[in-house]
Amino acid sequence: MTMRKPAIAGNWKMYKTLAETRAFAEAFPADAKNSTDPEVILCPPFTVLNALAEAFKGTAVQVGGQDTFWQDEGAYTGEVSPVMLKDAGASHVIIGHSERRQFFGETDGSVNRKVQAALQWQLVPIICVGEKLEEREAGLTDNVVIVQVQRALLNVAPELVSGVLFAYEPVWAIGTGKTCASDEANRVCGLIRETIAKMATPEAAAAVRVLYGGSVKPETIAEQMAQPEIDGALVGGASLDPSSFAKIVGYRTAAAH
Ligand code: 13P
Repeated sequence: MTMRKPAIAGNWKMYKTLAETRAFAEAFPADAKNSTDPEVILCPPFTVLNALAEAFKGTAVQVGGQDTFWQDEGAYTGEVSPVMLKDAGASHVIIGHSERRQFFGETDGSVNRKVQAALQWQLVPIICVGEKLEEREAGLTDNVVIVQVQRALLNVAPELVSGVLFAYEPVWAIGTGKTCASDEANRVCGLIRETIAKMATPEAAAAVRVLYGGSVKPETIAEQMAQPEIDGALVGGASLDPSSFAKIVGYRTAAAH
């Protein structure tokens, strides 16, 4: 039995100004701020990333970007590099979120380059995979998820794989209030782990943490975390409010209900 430490990550998407970011940090309760089990990671917009890192300095809260380019620097207008993310205080970076795949031309190929760049700079990638509604309805869920995982990890050294985080985010469950049934989310998270075992090593697969994302709320988290293959959550909407995100972080206590 491997012990995987749970992780709760918040994805703020395109929300929060500097003032709102500082207000969140002020209001986030001390026990959530100091939580190391689960680990807590917040991924704000680039413009407030450093302010968030400063506001949470001396706490256990870790900070991540929502995307990265794969080059260190250069003439790439509008892009941010892994080096810059680290410099601003990030330890993690979300890669391949479905909104980037849908609206900004992210492909499995660019995801792979970004994963390699993040690992090169010791940023922990949070690699997002998940099927669209029409793919689920056509019975393609497993195929889509397996291929996304395989392509994300192409040519990644097996010894680096154990450190990455995966997030299974069924696209139809994002921002819709339609949570994926916990047993089905558990099944697909297990499939992600099996795919990693075949690509890297069984040890790496046993160590990788697989998060679930898609309409996670304080009311749903306990049941999700009770699933053996689900090691945490990637939370969108409910991470914007300090008290609801703290309830999700504190999922082991009755206060989460
Ligand atoms: P919601 O929690 O708002 O459904 O968003 C999920 C998500 O996309 C996290 O990355």
